[in-house]
Amino acid sequence: MTNRELIDKLNTEKALQKSEWAQLFATFSEADRLYAAELARGIADKVFGKKIYLRGLVEFSNYCKNDCYYCGIRCSNQKAQRYRLSEEEILRCCDEGRELGFMSFVLQSGEDRAYSTEKLCGIVRAIKARHPDCAVTLSLGELPAEDYRALYKAGADRYLLRHETADEAHYAKLHPQSMTLQNRLECLKTLKAIGYQTGCGMMIGAPYQTPETLAEDMLFIKAFEPHMVGTGPFIPHPDTPFKDMPQGSFETTLLVLSLIRIMLPKTLLPATTALGTIHPLGREAGIQAGANVLMPNLSPVAVREKYALYENKICTGEESAQCVHCLKTRLASIGYEAVESRGDYQY
Ligand code: 5AD
Ligand code: FES
Repeated sequence: MTNRELIDKLNTEKALQKSEWAQLFATFSEADRLYAAELARGIADKVFGKKIYLRGLVEFSNYCKNDCYYCGIRCSNQKAQRYRLSEEEILRCCDEGRELGFMSFVLQSGEDRAYSTEKLCGIVRAIKARHPDCAVTLSLGELPAEDYRALYKAGADRYLLRHETADEAHYAKLHPQSMTLQNRLECLKTLKAIGYQTGCGMMIGAPYQTPETLAEDMLFIKAFEPHMVGTGPFIPHPDTPFKDMPQGSFETTLLVLSLIRIMLPKTLLPATTALGTIHPLGREAGIQAGANVLMPNLSPVAVREKYALYENKICTGEESAQCVHCLKTRLASIGYEAVESRGDYQY
């Protein structure tokens, strides 16, 4: 089959074989990518209209016990300037976000044991008490099932945990032995079973990624049926073992976004900050390829540069209000509009 026929097949059957996915990733042309984008954007317009959901991201700690080879805040990076926000600081970020029109907050951190589950539950309850009409998303990495349950009971609505790669051998090339794909997938299953709107995802162009491993990712995403998929290009960080690895491809990232949208029409799909980092109009291109979410940073400007998972991250010098204004202008320039909404998954 031609790539165009494969894209049509995906659109009608919502599934492809592994070899078909691999063919697409290995051989797609610019015309194939644009064809997928047109279909994907048509689907997103049908499901969400011209409306884009905003999530306010609060990066509250860059301490991490893990040592993922790709990540700038890995525990072995002695050069990372570590910080932790207090409960009051986190709440202030959310208050400011609410003023700016956000109804959805993402609390993200490294795997930092300094915040006990009890403490985190208190923070979730406090946000929910102040902003009962808003959604709280957590992105705290791998935790025991009982902690996931306690945080859900405290009021958290969603959880983001990228699977990173669905190929076991590839997973082992990106992470130290203490981390396993099996555990990651177990966490994802647990999160979904508890009732969280659950997000998985992977980097595009991660070191040692191949058309075949990317094909595995698509098969996994299809089977898991996540409510959200976070995917952006790999960008090397100078103080990691992968510092000399090439950056992920802009075009492949856009193609993947489009194919995910075609496969899972209702999924919440952000145009990521990483995509905006490798191209000045990356986030706009992501939306035009089928994304329907933006996640501007609400973290205090004083700590933004320190949450550097990769190099040259955008928006680290901007006040939250400035980013929101900038994004609204950018959305308007392509005919879209940010909406004041929780932006829940529509089951
Ligand atoms: N480039 C792009 N994305 C990265 N992430 C971590 N390090 C990098 C990097 N160097 C992504 C991972 C992680 C998410 C929070 O950020 O996929 O799950
Ligand atoms: Fe942050 Fe444009 S979105 S400056």
